[in-house]
Amino acid sequence: GQRLIVAVDGPSGSGKSSVCRAVASQLGAAYLDTGAMYRAATWYCLAQGVDLDDEQAVAVAVEEIPLTISTDPEHQIITVGQSDVTAAIREPRISERVSEIATNRPARALLIAAQRRIIDDSGFIVAEGRDITTVVAPDAQVRVLLTASAEARLRRRGLQLGGTESAEALRRQVIDRDTRDSTASNFTEAADGVAVLDSSDLTFQETIDALIQRVEQAS
Ligand code: C5P
Repeated sequence: GQRLIVAVDGPSGSGKSSVCRAVASQLGAAYLDTGAMYRAATWYCLAQGVDLDDEQAVAVAVEEIPLTISTDPEHQIITVGQSDVTAAIREPRISERVSEIATNRPARALLIAAQRRIIDDSGFIVAEGRDITTVVAPDAQVRVLLTASAEARLRRRGLQLGGTESAEALRRQVIDRDTRDSTASNFTEAADGVAVLDSSDLTFQETIDALIQRVEQAS
């Protein structure tokens, strides 16, 4: 079949996971949530008692992690060995530490290589993260930076977590995390050839439609 890569980057709370999953589902494409891989790596290091400050120990753990991630947008399941970590990797205790893995150079190189293999194995895929348009798949036919105002992002992440998090905890998980992550990749401004899609004033469905339109123009 058709070979088409849709690369989407954006900050946390931009809605990129829900939007990309819906777009992949509607278009019959595969879907890759690269953030879930960084989260699973964090879960694994914590479960193994690896000191996240120990660059070498983290790299060894990430090299041997028995990770599987499904690319079916309707059935997002991520496992590490025998453990289904699909829900656990969304917990605040992971969100608050994941940047430590994301800024670890050797771990990052290993995860990027794994992401490229998954993308190469799929003919038609929507892949999202922080560095997909720039590093993982800069040759993608569709490259979009999905942004939203800080207010919109905090509100969305708060709703996603069920309204149980304090404003302070949300700020740590969204704004402070972006600041830490931005040392590993630049996702606050669009690189050359990357289109900006600002969803601050769009509904979920309008954002999906805007992305689908770009994919249809490219195919
Ligand atoms: O997208 P999500 O918020 O689930 O990503 C979790 C974390 O994974 C980010 O905060 C960032 O540290 C890391 N990440 C990354 N590069 C990507 C995707 C995610 O560094 N391509």
